[in-house]
Amino acid sequence: MPELAPTAAAVQHSGIREIVNMVIGRPAGEVVRLEIGEPGFSTPQHIVDAGAAAAATARYAPSAGHMALREALVRRMARVTGVDVAPEQVVVTQGGVQACALTMTALLAPGDEVLVPDPAWPNYEMIVDMLGGRAVRYPLPAATGFVPDPDDVVARMTDRTRVLVLNSPGNPTGAVFPRDVVRALVDAAAARGIVVLSDEVYDELIFEGEAAAAITLDDEHVVAVHSFSKTYAMTGWRVGWAVAPTWLAPTMAKLQEPQLSCIPDLTSAGALAALEGPQDAIAVMREAYRARRDLCVELITAAGIDVAVPRGAFYLMVPLAAGVDSRLAAIDLVDHGVSVAPGTAFGDAAGDHVRISLASEEPDLREGIGRLTAWYAATEGGARR
Ligand SMILES: Cc1ncc(COP(=O)(O)O)c(C=O)c1O
Repeated sequence: MPELAPTAAAVQHSGIREIVNMVIGRPAGEVVRLEIGEPGFSTPQHIVDAGAAAAATARYAPSAGHMALREALVRRMARVTGVDVAPEQVVVTQGGVQACALTMTALLAPGDEVLVPDPAWPNYEMIVDMLGGRAVRYPLPAATGFVPDPDDVVARMTDRTRVLVLNSPGNPTGAVFPRDVVRALVDAAAARGIVVLSDEVYDELIFEGEAAAAITLDDEHVVAVHSFSKTYAMTGWRVGWAVAPTWLAPTMAKLQEPQLSCIPDLTSAGALAALEGPQDAIAVMREAYRARRDLCVELITAAGIDVAVPRGAFYLMVPLAAGVDSRLAAIDLVDHGVSVAPGTAFGDAAGDHVRISLASEEPDLREGIGRLTAWYAATEGGARR
């Protein structure tokens, strides 16, 4: 049999999919699904209408995206983060994930190191592996509410480090990094010529505190990654964008050519309508997530489990007994009627936590957390499974 490329073979499957694959197709109600990170909200109708209307005249777009959309994104950056950027710095991508992949494709040579949070959304490491780079993890300790210690991150920087990944508000933790932490990390990276890939796809889903947009702190070393998926409930549209320094953005746009040519015109029209139409759906979703967050924290705390209260995004990490293997726990929990994402899917540091997603509706959250806390009590946090 012909051989696979070593970089392709090195990419690991997502540890969340293992659980998803176990529960898909089970009869309704048998397993309450709390492992998925996909908003249940529908895409607002004016966005759907704009996408449908564009279908008849859809053509190729410029590699970096239509100028009208990039200009609308410039206005959005000013409105949400207060930063002035040029349309030439904006590259429209196929979701936030492709903005991350483009950034790293433009920067990494084989063997280069990328600092990745631990725990983190698994795709960062998959991208690094796919490019033959090396992911070096830095801890987000549960004890600090999953906020990194800048000195600890700096201690892991070497002369092979090309990229530092920040993700605030964070998946899977819901942590929102304070501005002084973001500033210390951006300054340290910039001083060493390291690019900060700041994944801010949840920046409009913050319950308390303020997002510190890294790009407001340095315009030569920061790539901001954004998405329509979460903010406008457009996961299936596959559209996001990157804002990159002027020395980098044209290369990222060029790299669209061998991969996508450009994003689809239908998606582009929907994205423009999302930016230019009413914004009230965002606040409605944010308030729904906040209410679900409050409910979950209350139910879990009432069961005697201490959680770090998430301040943004729509995830909550539940600690198991110290040292418990969350992958085995998550498999066991499926047999007890609830599916969660194991902390092991996100790295090592939170290997004894499980993530629940607030994307699920309130009745499911009540029922699922009831099953989770009953299991927790019966097994002493998974220690006596
Ligand atoms: C932290 C983080 N970044 C990026 C993404 C990518 O989202 P999309 O590619 O749908 O824009 C996700 C999706 O779950 C995420 O959790």
